[in-house]
Amino acid sequence: MSQIKVIVNGVLGRMGQQAANAVAVEAGLELIGGADIKATRDHLVTPANNKAVPLYPDIDSLIESCRPDVLVDFSVAEAAVASAKLALKNGIHIVVGTTGLSDADLKEIDELAKVNSKGAVVAANFAIGAIVLMYLAKIASKYFDNAEIIELHHDKKLDAPSGTALATARAMLKGKERPFICPPTEKETLKGTRGGQTEGISIHSVRLPGLVASQEVIFGALGQTLSLRHDTISRESFMPGVILAIKEVVKRQGLVYGLDTLLNLGD
Ligand SMILES: NC(=O)c1ccc[n+]([C@@H]2O[C@H](COP(=O)([O-])OP(=O)(O)OC[C@H]3O[C@@H](n4cnc5c(N)ncnc54)[C@H](O)[C@@H]3O)[C@@H](O)[C@H]2O)c1
Repeated sequence: MSQIKVIVNGVLGRMGQQAANAVAVEAGLELIGGADIKATRDHLVTPANNKAVPLYPDIDSLIESCRPDVLVDFSVAEAAVASAKLALKNGIHIVVGTTGLSDADLKEIDELAKVNSKGAVVAANFAIGAIVLMYLAKIASKYFDNAEIIELHHDKKLDAPSGTALATARAMLKGKERPFICPPTEKETLKGTRGGQTEGISIHSVRLPGLVASQEVIFGALGQTLSLRHDTISRESFMPGVILAIKEVVKRQGLVYGLDTLLNLGD
């Protein structure tokens, strides 16, 4: 394949704009259009290269108007599932960063990708450092019985805990092969202070303006703690992962869930 032609859904959002810019200046990739329900103009200029591409308020019209190789989606869950299905049925590979897709959605995307011989990458976190943290936490889990997760995000985040915190806990439990030990709190004077519990791991969610996304995993044992921390300082941090996914998805068929597989850090 020469240039990989890319379209972005949710292109006027925080992640969509970053993705469009990153694609626009990446060698081997070409941004050929965007869609966003908020679109009020018929074109979008990417500041990174000052180039205009067509902009539509819906993904259906965009797909009808051009022949992309890859759809990148950073919108909202319902729209992402619809755009992913439409793209696959039209023979377009998909990279979905939108969070909140259900297991049933993933199954359907996998089936559609296979039937249409196209690739699908769905990843709730494209920050490579966050994926490495998960991998390291999984390894460390074997050696500690107590661990807690603190995840810190901007105040506009809709869900808590983050999908990454839950995925980290799942990876840690896989590494440990049994539940962690959470010491009981005899008297919780303020409900919820000990965080949410999953198999002995307490997860604490911090929401503050000024933050982007951070996560710390703290392991504890006799006389020692081990802390693993990752900080997303700007949304640019997600872009190397998005670019990797675009370049990889065109070589694959069916669903790849999570960036860890593309980084060879999966099971
Ligand atoms: N995978 C990752 O690494 C990663 C990182 C950060 C955020 N996210 C996820 O990406 C998604 C977008 O995050 P954001 O911060 O850019 O949000 P945002 O609100 O800034 O952007 C979402 C955009 O989608 C558009 N949109 C909504 N409904 C639409 C529809 N039906 N069709 C087309 N466009 C539609 C909105 O108008 C908006 O411009 C969220 O699900 C978020 O959790 C993923």
